[in-house]
Amino acid sequence: MRKGRFITFEGGEGAGKSTQIRRLAAALRAGHAREVVVTREPGGTPLAERLRAIILAGKARDLGDFGEALLFSAARIDHIDRIIRPALARGAYLLCDRFADSTRAYQGARGGAGEDILATLERVTLDGVRPDLTFILDLPPEIGLERAEKRRGQGGVDRFEGEALAFHAALREKFLDIARAEPDRCKVIDASTPEDEVAEAIFSACLKKWPLPALGEKQWA
Ligand code: TYD
Repeated sequence: MRKGRFITFEGGEGAGKSTQIRRLAAALRAGHAREVVVTREPGGTPLAERLRAIILAGKARDLGDFGEALLFSAARIDHIDRIIRPALARGAYLLCDRFADSTRAYQGARGGAGEDILATLERVTLDGVRPDLTFILDLPPEIGLERAEKRRGQGGVDRFEGEALAFHAALREKFLDIARAEPDRCKVIDASTPEDEVAEAIFSACLKKWPLPALGEKQWA
């Protein structure tokens, strides 16, 4: 039986997901009884991290959008089986940096893999394991790519950072479409505002979904 809370963070490049995940994890750990697990995609298990290295090095690019979607999904299956499902069964907060919406957006942005086929792939991959809450950190792609470049320093761009600006603009629209289609699950957060404000917006959305217990009760479980 599933008792945990599954929260995913999505968005384009340089939106500040990792910082915000760290902050939410710290806030949850400070005040709550539940275990907090932080993980990421592609990755999270040794096998999925190996697939990550292949994909982000651009070695699977020739497979095309659908082929890459299959690899992301294979990594996701291992991650769900070994990390996500067990953590949710233990009752943990599971915070994941990217998940299935990234496949919908990144592999769907160019139209090379149709929405229907990606939706079917998602359904069989997730097998019922769906996020309770998804934060879409929204930012104009020009700003995001500039931030990602600063963060990167001298290192080269990865498989997706190197795509043209038009791709990143399409990606942003894909994420906003997902949020419009599933407003109960997805919260769009303006990631161009100061870091503290973003953290505040994220934390208050969590409080709204899972309200604090009445005064006198010990913890917000
Ligand atoms: P990462 O370094 O984690 O990027 P970021 O810091 O922007 O999250 O690399 C993950 C990259 O893989 C990122 O460019 C998005 C892409 N990706 C997909 O294309 N499809 C997917 O399903 C996932 C999970 C990620």
